Amino acid sequence: MTKNILKYEEKIEEIIAELTIEEKAAMCHGNGLFRTEGVKRLNIPPMKMADGPMGVRNEFPDDSWVPIGYSDDYVTYLPCSLALAATWNKDLAYKSGQVLGNEARGRGKDIILGPGINIIRSPLCGRNFEYMSEDPYLTGEMAVPFIKGVQEDNDVSVCVKHFAVNNQETERLNVEAIVDERTLREIYLPAFEKAVKEGNAYSIMSAYNKLYGYHCSHNKELLEGILREEWGFDGIIVSDWGAIHDTELAANAGMDIEMNVTYNFDDYFFANPLIKAVKEGRVKEEVVNKKIRRILRLMYKLNIFSEERKRGTYNAPEHRQLTLDVARESIVLLKNENNVLPLKDTKIKTLAVIGENANIAHSNGGGSAEIKSLFEITPLLGFNMRLGGETKVKYAKGYSADVSIKEQLINEAVELAKTSDAVIIVGGLKHTAEDLQLENNALSVTKDEEIKRRIDSEGYDKTDLNLPYEQDELIKRVLEVNKNAVVVMLSGAPIDMSEWIDEANAVVQTWYNGMEGGRALAEVIFGDVNPSGKLTATFPRKLEDSPAHKLGEFPGGETVNYGEGIFVGYRYFSTYDVNPLFAFGHGLSYTEFKYDNLEILISEKPDDIDVLVKFKVTNIGEVDGAEVPQVYVSDLEASVERPKIELKGFDKINLKIGETKEVEIKLDKKALAFYNVEDKKWTVESGKFKVLVGRSAQDIRLEKDINIASNYKF
Ligand code: BGC
Repeated sequence: MTKNILKYEEKIEEIIAELTIEEKAAMCHGNGLFRTEGVKRLNIPPMKMADGPMGVRNEFPDDSWVPIGYSDDYVTYLPCSLALAATWNKDLAYKSGQVLGNEARGRGKDIILGPGINIIRSPLCGRNFEYMSEDPYLTGEMAVPFIKGVQEDNDVSVCVKHFAVNNQETERLNVEAIVDERTLREIYLPAFEKAVKEGNAYSIMSAYNKLYGYHCSHNKELLEGILREEWGFDGIIVSDWGAIHDTELAANAGMDIEMNVTYNFDDYFFANPLIKAVKEGRVKEEVVNKKIRRILRLMYKLNIFSEERKRGTYNAPEHRQLTLDVARESIVLLKNENNVLPLKDTKIKTLAVIGENANIAHSNGGGSAEIKSLFEITPLLGFNMRLGGETKVKYAKGYSADVSIKEQLINEAVELAKTSDAVIIVGGLKHTAEDLQLENNALSVTKDEEIKRRIDSEGYDKTDLNLPYEQDELIKRVLEVNKNAVVVMLSGAPIDMSEWIDEANAVVQTWYNGMEGGRALAEVIFGDVNPSGKLTATFPRKLEDSPAHKLGEFPGGETVNYGEGIFVGYRYFSTYDVNPLFAFGHGLSYTEFKYDNLEILISEKPDDIDVLVKFKVTNIGEVDGAEVPQVYVSDLEASVERPKIELKGFDKINLKIGETKEVEIKLDKKALAFYNVEDKKWTVESGKFKVLVGRSAQDIRLEKDINIASNYKF
């Protein structure tokens, strides 16, 4: 292996010596919307890229954003990253990565533009569905196996995005995130650090926004200082599309490849302007050589020059099976009073399915994460498939963006609900504005903007937490005639449910959940699958309860002040005693779990602390199920302000009826530390800590104090 690398290194130097500056520049910028230029003379191919992260995006011509439209780019549509994270299942994250990498290679790509691992700071961010969690630890733990899955056996690179502190869409190209150093280190960087150090990500995408005065792609301290020098990142940095605004700044800050959204490829900052800058001595040629070295190294890692390169494949049946496995575990049972769920199919002769989200596909939405899915099982199709010919499934749209027909739609839905044995409402958010525009061709541009602000999509943040299109009223009116109507929210972000949550007995959260999403939903609702998904972001009662809105700003103006600091998500709700609608980590099951026998073993060594957290979980209910025990830590005697609890470990375990498992979760010094800005070191202060084990950030079942004797700095 070492021999091979040495061989490549020599070869790389030979190639660099051969290349003209024009050829070097060609390798460093887009010469098509999703590819660089190669150097034919030396048999160096272009680098081919595709979005990411829910599948491999459809094919575009080099110079147009209108898709080519052949039938050969249908693919497997994976559950969105938020759904994947809601499984809390690292094995499924690894397998999802494997599928994505395999499909990317199958489609002839070198780099897949994902995963997206920005922190969910506000429930309004339009790309929350593409990210994993409000918690950096959970995000990192799910991202690492995903990255390994993509890269390990596919000869494909991830491109982990968007580095860094890119937590909103409003003014995303220029907004400056004002975030203090401790918060940067404790909340916004750790998942990226893990992606690099543990996941061995081969490539990173620099974000659009500004940080500490510079656009991320111009920020030398971020790219060279933190990413390369401190974390040892040796891969390539690709700009988000149009995230570079200056040749010298970006070139000298360590950027490797400039991508953009326009077709004037020769004018890109890393095209002719870079050649000029080198000729005029503003950028040293050795700086460009470094970029070429990194790009060529990646090419060797991906076996681009080898005849043995993996071929990959797409639309394999086992890929579809994986999307189903993920969807099944991602669905979150939010509320289940009187055990309304699961519904018993034998008792249902007529089922009313209400709501537009039951009957539309979402795969083609969301912006760059859109997927040309081979198929998509909608909830309505899933219910029909599950119930078969003995149950009459009737559908009513219930709501629409066109408010003029609101009364009529609600009345139809209520009538249908009255005359059916069971009712399932599937509402939530939309993922694309296209069909809305078609329906409503009288829309003005302003109205169009408004519509986009109500959907889960790149490019737009929502302006409130409300359910759009008068759905609150629909849900209330249906619940009046059937209090056991099951309410399903299909969205990529939290929603304000306060108008009807007290009236509803059964509430289920599902997501843009991949091509088998509707099947998985039906299986959960009819009890073939016992739900085990858990929220990865807090659902607030009202928007004003969210820390970014209460203590900080969102979305700000030219700058956005992260005034809530480290108190993001449940860190805020727990510390400030704010009661959420549904807590981080929450998710019910059709069975019950008992937690007991908490034991904590601590061994302090000169340079680390081993904390072993042991406890037992028993399935005391009447069906088999899966549980996600969560370990939180609380620093009881800190010299600085710390969140009341922080997630530091979790597991996902399957338990048969009556079965007990002993869970062991290891914590190390990092789990107890905070980032000390004075000396720029992670710090563990001696004294008392509490270790808490629970089913969610609010539902703590076991806890114990521990004592740490020494201080640690690292
Ligand atoms: C998005 C990226 C995406 C890129 C290419 C950008 O607008 O922010 O996430 O990978 O476009 O489509």
